[in-house]
Amino acid sequence: MADVIERLEDIENQVRTIGVLTSGGDAPGMNAAIRAVVRTAAARDIKVRGIRRGYHGLMREEIIELTTRDVSDIIQRGGTILQTARCKSMRTKEGQLNAAAICKKYNLDAVVVIGGDGSFRGARDLSKLGVNVICIPGTIDLDITCTDYSIGFDTAVNTAMEAIDKIRDTSTSHDRCSIIEVMGREAGYIAMWCGIANGAERIQIPEERDNYNDEELFQDVLNNKKRGKKNYIIVNAEGVGDSIDLARRIEEATGIEARATILGHMQRGGSPTCKDRLYASMMGAKAVELLYEGKKNRVVAYKSAKYVDYDIDEALSQTKTISEHQYYVAKELKYIN
Ligand code: F6P
Repeated sequence: MADVIERLEDIENQVRTIGVLTSGGDAPGMNAAIRAVVRTAAARDIKVRGIRRGYHGLMREEIIELTTRDVSDIIQRGGTILQTARCKSMRTKEGQLNAAAICKKYNLDAVVVIGGDGSFRGARDLSKLGVNVICIPGTIDLDITCTDYSIGFDTAVNTAMEAIDKIRDTSTSHDRCSIIEVMGREAGYIAMWCGIANGAERIQIPEERDNYNDEELFQDVLNNKKRGKKNYIIVNAEGVGDSIDLARRIEEATGIEARATILGHMQRGGSPTCKDRLYASMMGAKAVELLYEGKKNRVVAYKSAKYVDYDIDEALSQTKTISEHQYYVAKELKYIN
């Protein structure tokens, strides 16, 4: 009898239909994750519904069937075939209740949410209303605490790195100081990685914003010139901001021509790198495997060279800071004063 009850429970808990959405800023590699979700699910006889435009589309019932054919030829494409949105109403109780009711209406046994920590918070709110969720980190900012990798970061830093190399060429020709502003919201990961990879003279990150000093920077720009260097590259994170004004202040104080370039949304576009395609595929597959094993409300992560998963509350309660080791190396190499 106990066996029969257990088997009935298994059938009851079996995942039959899942939804997948991308939310927040798009990130190259999201398509690879969607593809892996759909194909891993198909291999386990699980149906997938694509939810267009993130939570915004969920609330408007923009829900489509996704078959294995629908996700062919997308792994190499930037952006997200499901499109995405930032949804303010998901922060309200009314919006959350509405979203949960729509998941139930469409018989979604779970929703796979691909996005950043704001999207994860939306997922956690849904989980409290009885919707099973699995989150996959997708943001170029790399600011999700529980993971060493997030979809899109690798492509974004490579795009920014190539752009900075190009700016250095023209900067050298003109004996200029160039300030290149990179994305990352309140996190300095893109700036730190590019600053080291581009051999920048200086890296400015929001985590250290309060320690920056104009006079000391101007002096460094002048000393650099005295040493015979033909350029001075500053990689400035958008969370520090003020790049155009910084260029004006440097030029005024040092007499050295300074130009600011804000790389902007080009960092979010383009064909994903091999790493982003591969890791996103692994994470998409893992999300479905977790559901197939009966797991609930997990965040897929890449930690210490392994694909792992955390409880969503635990994942959201952690805090993340720039790698101390990386910061130390950057300082040693005199990128940060
Ligand atoms: O979170 C990704 C990101 O590109 C951040 O780096 C940036 O601050 C933000 O999104 C820009 O958002 P939006 O495209 O909505 O202007």
